[in-house]
Amino acid sequence: MKVWWRLAVAGLAAVWLSGFASEVRTAAQGQAAAATGKNAGEAFKNVTTSTLKELSVDDFIATMGVISADLGLDCANCHPGAGTDNADFVIDTPPKRTARRMVEMVANINRTNFAGVQRVTCWTCHHGRQTPATSIALDTLYDTPNAEHDDIVLPERGQPSAEQVFDKYMQALGGAQRLSGLTSFVATGTSVGYFGLGGTGEFTVFAKAPNQRTALITYKEKPERGDSVWAFDGRTGWIKTPHGLLGEYELIGEELDGARLEAQMAFPGQIKQVLNNWRVGATRSIGNRDFIVVQGSGPRSFFATLYFDMQSGLLSRMVRYGPSPVGRVPTQIDYSDYRDVGGIKFPFEYKFSWLDGRYTAKLNEVKTNVAVDAAKFGRPSAK
Ligand code: HEC
Ligand code: HEC
Repeated sequence: MKVWWRLAVAGLAAVWLSGFASEVRTAAQGQAAAATGKNAGEAFKNVTTSTLKELSVDDFIATMGVISADLGLDCANCHPGAGTDNADFVIDTPPKRTARRMVEMVANINRTNFAGVQRVTCWTCHHGRQTPATSIALDTLYDTPNAEHDDIVLPERGQPSAEQVFDKYMQALGGAQRLSGLTSFVATGTSVGYFGLGGTGEFTVFAKAPNQRTALITYKEKPERGDSVWAFDGRTGWIKTPHGLLGEYELIGEELDGARLEAQMAFPGQIKQVLNNWRVGATRSIGNRDFIVVQGSGPRSFFATLYFDMQSGLLSRMVRYGPSPVGRVPTQIDYSDYRDVGGIKFPFEYKFSWLDGRYTAKLNEVKTNVAVDAAKFGRPSAK
């Protein structure tokens, strides 16, 4: 059941979710909270830690995701019955009590040792284990070295400038002039959930320059599963999920910055302006390919790392990071199968991965510069 919760959070019904009556009840609570702008300490019954109680409801749930992923746990390990009809998120269980203590401990460590900068997170010690390991396994010392990258990219001498990397990218896509003539598009295809679970859905993206984008997954064969919608109208963002913990909710926290970036990146002619303080780091390898890595910063500690293929110059990966009190919340999109549509290359496959789930979308068709109804980008239930 490890996959369900983030699906609930990010709105993906790609994995079959069953028996979430209690989550749906919490959903009502979540929606009410989102609507009234309550923070987590007010919206939930038993949220008391100094850092978590201040969060918006959506950021609080994302934080629960970081905790689960960093410790290799499911929601149900701390919240009895999570994922069933009898979930109890309020009761204090022993691991929940420990986790609460650790949340305060992490805040303290950073405050007293790192001038309040978040250098220590749950991942620093736990590394996907419930109880942190204490000694190195000598196999790893003499075999595969630890290949983890720092989140923060430091500028590396001798690399091309971000400007040059972006110019090469735009050239590879069809040139700045063609890109500036792209004003909207509708892309259609299919989506396949985590490990192929949940069957295939119809996948649609509506996008309008400079910064509106909505992605939609529907199940024509199984309409009872409901639609999943991620909408951003240039200012506000919404996620709608049929069986989710929060139901339909407005993006208030770090996910809003992510939605904005994805919408802007749908029109890559403006890439230089979508984030600030661009820096080009050391070349990184993924598999047997090398990538130029460019990182830029957004508002509220938000930043994103872009991986450009050294050969083609095309964007292969974007990882965005939003803040949370227990560690950053990463979301990754891998782009591939670039194909030409009227002189502009579009990625026809992309893999969307977040802390606890993923789906792959494969496009069949992209129609450019078509009229898109403004309501497509607004609150999903308002249509
Ligand atoms: C390692 C233990 C742990 C795991 C795993 C965990 N949580 Fe929590 N959860 C907590 C703690 C601790 C609190 C209380 C936080 C506080 O007091 O600030 C909490 C509180 C909550 C609450 C508020 C309940 C209320 O009404 O007071 C919800 C909802 C919640 N968690 C959802 C989740 C979800 C969804 C997951 C799976 C993604 C999850 N949690 C995974 C430890 C955990
Ligand atoms: C400085 C290292 C360190 C950090 C950072 C850290 N932990 Fe821990 N954690 C430990 C150690 C060590 C233990 C094992 C304690 C024991 O066995 O008595 C532990 C145990 C736990 C347990 C109990 C596991 C069990 O099996 O009972 C939970 C839950 C937990 N940590 C949650 C968290 C959360 C959530 C965070 C981030 C907010 C975090 N920890 C950050 C060191 C750390």
